[in-house]
Amino acid sequence: MPIFFSYDILILMKIISANWKMNLTPSQTKEYLQGFLPLVEDIKDREILLCPPFTSLCVASEILKGTHIKLGAQNCHYEPKGAFTGEISLEMLKELGVSYIIVGHSERRWIFGETDELISKKITACLEAGVRPILCVGERLEEREAGLTFKVVETQVRLALSGVESYTDDLDIAYEPVWAIGTGNPATPEDAQVVHAYIKDLLQDVNPKHEGRTRVLYGGSVNPKNAGEFMRMRDVDGLLVGGASLDPESFYQIVKSF
Ligand code: PGA
Repeated sequence: MPIFFSYDILILMKIISANWKMNLTPSQTKEYLQGFLPLVEDIKDREILLCPPFTSLCVASEILKGTHIKLGAQNCHYEPKGAFTGEISLEMLKELGVSYIIVGHSERRWIFGETDELISKKITACLEAGVRPILCVGERLEEREAGLTFKVVETQVRLALSGVESYTDDLDIAYEPVWAIGTGNPATPEDAQVVHAYIKDLLQDVNPKHEGRTRVLYGGSVNPKNAGEFMRMRDVDGLLVGGASLDPESFYQIVKSF
């Protein structure tokens, strides 16, 4: 059995994360960080995570060295190395100071065909490597309309964690309803709260020894205006922000929204 990573108490801080998706070149990343870092210099009571594209990790890693801003990646491969053209290993990412990986984002599931089985392999690989995965789950519109939200979320969580059930404390989960991503049509904070509470109960069921160190983030059309409303919900422990994180000032407003 591999050696798994364990996390200290600081991990319970709220986390505000930026998922830049396929945006910002290395030079644009540099410019972004020059604008962003002075804004968040004194904000240390919450975790701030940036997940740029792979090509910007190197420059971001250099600039973020010695700061409290965390670096994450948007994907990884589950094998440690080898003939996997176009893929990126966890060792490569760790060397750049990456400490989080977004796994199973709906764009990877629905555009690139990632299955629950593949996502499960990536989660296991992250845990083995001591990199904290952020597992993304969420229902599509037709599933929501059919009343299947909880069923879909439960299936995604259970399958992603199969084989690593006893490590539920070593990852975070982002609830991102697919219909809310990039649409300008977020879930209501109350709807998010209900699903977040359900996910926390589910984790207890998946792992009866679960200590409650898994943060559940909301993602899907978060912006500076609604961020604070989500963060006021009891079981919303953080945010995963796409479009509104691409501008340093807008992301800063979200970071300090609560
Ligand atoms: P959005 O994306 O904030 O642009 O809706 C969120 C995400 O996909 O993580």
